[in-house]
Amino acid sequence: MRKSQRLGFGVATLILLLTVALSALAAESEPTETQLFLRGAKLWGAYCGQCHNARSGSEFNRLEWDTLLLHMRVRANLPAADAEALRVFLRSSH
Ligand code: HEC
Repeated sequence: MRKSQRLGFGVATLILLLTVALSALAAESEPTETQLFLRGAKLWGAYCGQCHNARSGSEFNRLEWDTLLLHMRVRANLPAADAEALRVFLRSSH
């Protein structure tokens, strides 16, 4: 094996290892359904009763919640990750 070939092999191995490490990290940072639910429950208590009585998840169906949450996201200025957690929590009662 020539020196430059060995170098190329080393770089390829390094890239492969980096890819594996990064995808493991990405998989870890993706929250599970249970984590989203628990986060949503906390956020619901903190946010959703501020401007009106907190509305229970069972009051609206899944589709209605999708629309309502878009609206409340704007009203309450919610970050996307918080809105997703709230969506999982509110839809869980169906
Ligand atoms: C910054 C104030 C504010 C916050 C925080 C807020 N809302 Fe609202 N919400 C409103 C206002 C104002 C309305 C009246 C509809 C409109 O905006 O035209 C409303 C309407 C609603 C309605 C529709 C009521 C109906 O009977 O048609 C639902 C359901 C609702 N909010 C749920 C939520 C949920 C769930 C949260 C938590 C993520 C939330 N809201 C947080 C201001 C807020």
